Amino acid sequence: MTEAQDGGPRRILVTGAAGMLGSQVLLAAPEDVEVVGTDMREAHGVDVHGVDLTDEAQVQSALFEAAGRIHGVIHTAAYTAVDKAEEEPELAQAVNGDACGVLARAAARAGAPLVVVSTDFVFDGTRTEPYPVDHPTSPASVYGGTKLSGEHQALAAHPDGACIVRTQWLYGPRGGHFPGTMQRLARERDRLSVVSDQVGSPTSTLELAPALWDVLERGEAGVYHAACEGECSWYDLAVATIEASGIEGVRIEPCSTEEFPRPAKRPAYSVLDCSKLTELRGAPLAPWRDALLTYLGGDSE
Ligand SMILES: NC(=O)c1ccc[n+]([C@@H]2O[C@H](COP(=O)([O-])OP(=O)(O)OC[C@H]3O[C@@H](n4cnc5c(N)ncnc54)[C@H](OP(=O)(O)O)[C@@H]3O)[C@@H](O)[C@H]2O)c1
Repeated sequence: MTEAQDGGPRRILVTGAAGMLGSQVLLAAPEDVEVVGTDMREAHGVDVHGVDLTDEAQVQSALFEAAGRIHGVIHTAAYTAVDKAEEEPELAQAVNGDACGVLARAAARAGAPLVVVSTDFVFDGTRTEPYPVDHPTSPASVYGGTKLSGEHQALAAHPDGACIVRTQWLYGPRGGHFPGTMQRLARERDRLSVVSDQVGSPTSTLELAPALWDVLERGEAGVYHAACEGECSWYDLAVATIEASGIEGVRIEPCSTEEFPRPAKRPAYSVLDCSKLTELRGAPLAPWRDALLTYLGGDSE
C-alpha cells in the first residue's frame, strides 16, 4: 500500500463504521494507521463521521477535505436488508451499486487502494463445490444483483487499485445476526425450525476484519473470497450455537427452504473457495466451529 508521503500516519477511510463488520474493522486497525470511520448513523464505542455514500459531494469531501488526504479505503457500508431490497431496488442499487462507483472514482483520483466487501449472493447457489473467485456470477436476488453492480463499478473505475472481497454468513460482537437470533429464540421457545437445505460458511467478523486489512496492505487488484473454513447448514449453525451457549430445553428441527419462504431467493450452496486469500495471508481463516466458540466465549451476549 502507498506510504504516507507527508510523513504523517497513513489515513484509512472505513465506510459502514457503525455496522457489524465496519465497527470490527475499525477495532482491528494496525497501530500505525489513523482510521477515519464513516456511516449514516451513530456508532456505540467507535468514532464515526456522518457521510451518505449516495451523495457524491459528501464522498468527495470525506476523501479529499474532511480528514486530510486518504491513503486507502475499506468499504463495508451497504444496503444489507436482503428481503426489503426486493421492494426497494432503486435504493439498494444507489447504495450497493452506484455509490461504490462514486467511491472507487474518488479513490482512484486520490491514488488510494480500495477494498470493497461483497457477498456470496453474486452466485446463484446451484454448484455443489466451493465457488472459485473467477466462477461466472449469476445473482438470484435484487441484493445480489446490486452488490455485483458495485463490484463491476469499482473494478471499472479503479482497475489498478480495487480489491473485491466476497464473504458470507457474517456474525460478530456488534450488530444483529443469525447466532444472536437463535440464542434469543431458543430462550423464548421450546421448539425451533431451522432451514437445513442452504449450505455456506459462517464467518466471524473477528476473523474477517484482520483479513481485510491484509488485503488492503498487500492485495493486488481483483477478486478475493474470504470466509471461515468448512461448511454447514443454517440448522447445523443453530444447533452449534445453542449447544455452545448452554441453552437447554429447546428442540431444534430441520426444515426446508420451501417451508420457510422469504421474499429474496437465497443460494442453496454458496461455499466460497478462499485459496487465493489463504495464499496471500499464509493461512486460512479459522474453522467455522472454532471461530463460533471464540465469539460465544467473548462478549456475544
Ligand atoms: N451480514 C452478512 O451476513 C454479509 C454477508 C456477505 C456480505 N456482507 C457484506 O458485508 C458488508 C458489511 O455487512 P454488515 O452486515 O456489517 O452490514 P451492516 O451492519 O448493515 O452495516 C452496513 C452499514 O452501512 C450503512 N449504510 C447504509 N446505507 C448507507 C449510505 N447510503 N451511506 C453510508 N452508509 C450507509 C448502514 O447504515 P444504516 O444501518 O443506517 O442503513 C450500516 O451502518 C456489506 O458490504 C455487506 O453487503 C454481509
